[in-house]
Amino acid sequence: MNPILTKHIKSRFIKEFSHEPIIIKSPGRINLIGEHTDYNEGFAIPAAINKGIVTAIQKSTTDLCTVIANDLSETYSFSLKKIQSIQNGGWKNYVLGVVAEIQKKGITIKPFNLIFGGDIPIGAGLSSSAALENSIVFGLNELFSLGLSKKEMIQISQKAEHNYAGVKCGIMDQYASMFGIENGALLLDCRTTESSNISINFNEYQLLLINTNVKHSLSESAYNNRRRVCEKIASLLNVKALRDASEEDLKQLKIKISEEDYHKALYVIYENNRVLKAVKAIKNNKLLDFGKLLYETHEGLQKKYMVSCHELDLLVDKAKQNPAVIGARMMGGGFGGCTLNIVKKSELNSFTITVEKAYKEHFNKHCSFYTIEFSKGTHLAEE
Ligand code: GLA
Repeated sequence: MNPILTKHIKSRFIKEFSHEPIIIKSPGRINLIGEHTDYNEGFAIPAAINKGIVTAIQKSTTDLCTVIANDLSETYSFSLKKIQSIQNGGWKNYVLGVVAEIQKKGITIKPFNLIFGGDIPIGAGLSSSAALENSIVFGLNELFSLGLSKKEMIQISQKAEHNYAGVKCGIMDQYASMFGIENGALLLDCRTTESSNISINFNEYQLLLINTNVKHSLSESAYNNRRRVCEKIASLLNVKALRDASEEDLKQLKIKISEEDYHKALYVIYENNRVLKAVKAIKNNKLLDFGKLLYETHEGLQKKYMVSCHELDLLVDKAKQNPAVIGARMMGGGFGGCTLNIVKKSELNSFTITVEKAYKEHFNKHCSFYTIEFSKGTHLAEE
């Protein structure tokens, strides 16, 4: 994360509140493969990235908590005695949600002041919200010596998202942001919430994110709807989650459910298997095979799970047409955000020029490009 940003957040805190704060850095995440598998208790391979949120926090000397969103120049004060979600409250609900979920555990915290800022694009599917939630719960845990484990902290962040932001997300984003490692990705088992480290040798290739710069308004309701469909089918199959179902099991149900729901569940079953195939490909250094799996995931998300959009599809089509790209797919919840691409380093420049031009021609707007590195999970900033 940008060291200038960290300095700026710290000095702004001192200026506003006349106290030395604790500084927390909390990264965003990418997901190599395993999309919409987390709430089906399946597998995914996310990684924390070198873009995220920096939060400065310290005890307040008044009865109120004051929170400043540095990048938006917005300030919000509230009392810990009466926490409620705010309709269309945006970032405020992440703060309130984390506080409320801590209080629900019977833990008492005192008033605090907080300033946060970031170098992670908002709404790009890089989990800026998970990074923010984790930074707040981590900061409060430090400040008031709450003794929460990292696992308890990510559960608090996830519940804040469910109950205050209204998105019934899985655990992947919060997990990757909290537990990320500097030199690789994590093979995450979303049932046990345990992971093992995976290092990947990209050789002459490199990861490139392309941001559509759109987030369609149906994304949140569609996300919750997908989750409901998966849970309904799991219960019809008499299994705990779709992770426990096979294609054969699902076929038995075919006449009882709609064609759309059948394809959605089938996507999840295939995607879970793809993650396991991806692990093998990565371990055997078969980058081309890994890339193909990414294209398959995109097709599944587009045609079976139906969470893509024209902007994402165009970016993936352009990648497919270019021999310098060995794999690409939409990433995250869908309906906007970024695509993840594996591109030959030597062709990076020409690829981005071609894509930029095509995107502008089709949609009359710009897409953005980010090369990223892996980074460690939520942590205190060293001085
Ligand atoms: C969002 C959610 C995650 C996960 C992804 C899709 O990022 O927050 O829990 O479900 O979508 O894989």
